[in-house]
Amino acid sequence: MSTSEKFPQISPQFFSQPLLETIANDFATPTYVYALDALKNNLAGLRRHFPKADLHYALKANPSGALIKEMAALNIGAEVITLGELQRAVHAGIPRLILGGPAQSPQLIQAALANGVRQVSLDSLSQLASWQDVAWPEDLSFFLRVNPALDPQTHAHLATGAVTSKFGMTSSEAAEAAEQILKQGATHLAGFHIHAGSQIHALDVYDDIFKCLRPLYERFASQGAKALNLGGGFIVSGDGSKHFDFDGLRQKIEPFVEEFGLALTLEPGRYLTANAGVLLTQVLHIKDHRSVDGRLHVICDAGMADLIRPALYSAEHPMYVLGRQDAEQTILGDVDGPLCENADRLMQQKQLPEIVQGDILVVEQAGAYGLTMASNYASSFRPAEVLIKDGDVRLIRKRETFEDLVALEL
Ligand code: LLP
Repeated sequence: MSTSEKFPQISPQFFSQPLLETIANDFATPTYVYALDALKNNLAGLRRHFPKADLHYALKANPSGALIKEMAALNIGAEVITLGELQRAVHAGIPRLILGGPAQSPQLIQAALANGVRQVSLDSLSQLASWQDVAWPEDLSFFLRVNPALDPQTHAHLATGAVTSKFGMTSSEAAEAAEQILKQGATHLAGFHIHAGSQIHALDVYDDIFKCLRPLYERFASQGAKALNLGGGFIVSGDGSKHFDFDGLRQKIEPFVEEFGLALTLEPGRYLTANAGVLLTQVLHIKDHRSVDGRLHVICDAGMADLIRPALYSAEHPMYVLGRQDAEQTILGDVDGPLCENADRLMQQKQLPEIVQGDILVVEQAGAYGLTMASNYASSFRPAEVLIKDGDVRLIRKRETFEDLVALEL
């Protein structure tokens, strides 16, 4: 059996068993738990690899207020794409912001300027036209997002650098945008931006990225393009078998930025927060259908409304049974959610350890694209959030209630 067929588990080093037991007891389930030390560890690792890079956390990965306040204190910038993200980042005191995204309404543009955003990534010539309607502060500069038309070798939903994706400009559109910006002054051109996808593992993707960027910097580096934004997308693999090769990436980036004298910006999302979070869910029922379809169904109180990634991307989140991390995995089964929809699964067709009613499952790598993508589907209450900091545990977001469900109804 390959590792990917197992009920995989990754070291629970930042989430000790007694702490998780206390959290499950005190705050019930489902609950998201974040470990600040794990996040700091990830950030330190990235800074070690890219000491000069300007890091802008992609807020969409996890915009939890308490977490991003901690990030602000660690002097990390943010990439924001909506008014809500902009307001959250400002509220948390994040020191530097890049506004990106394929849609920038006049309201968002005004709010960005009013809140001191001075770097913008443009996704289309149409977006540039919207920015021409406002006065540009002297220190405002633009990245031009390029679609590198490559195969990012990732899930189709995450393949933003594919030619058919909805993102970015062609190289010639980006050059046209650069010319238009230069008419307003060289300082307004920051450079080019490629975020080729999420969960990128194959390093040769970056060869294609630099092939695409080269002619643009050959033409515009001497005219003001002095920065390069390579986005985020570094893989955090479900079964822990793949690790992003940061050394390999650095070896590809360094000669390029040196040749053109560029400042490097990165927008990591998942890499910073995914393994800094787990989701605790309790086993409510066990349905033994091994004689029917060969499966044991483990039915939990968390599912697609709480963590949609398995349903949406067939994502594999490592899991373990709290208190029995090392139990042998001998039973073929599924981990199902509580809702009436067949996509409502957390895991399918894996070897599971013995699981009994009342067990707590620890769903790992849930710190990125977890609660932020949760919904109230089937009038589910979104889970609570808890932060572990310096060994202390703090509730940072309450579990929703019926009152929250109806709060906006008139
Ligand atoms: N920069 C840009 C322009 C992006 O669009 C994204 C993510 C990032 C940076 C950060 O990417 P990361 O380092 O987190 O891969 N909901 C999906 C992921 C969607 C990512 C969208 N853009 C998931 O759960 O896998």
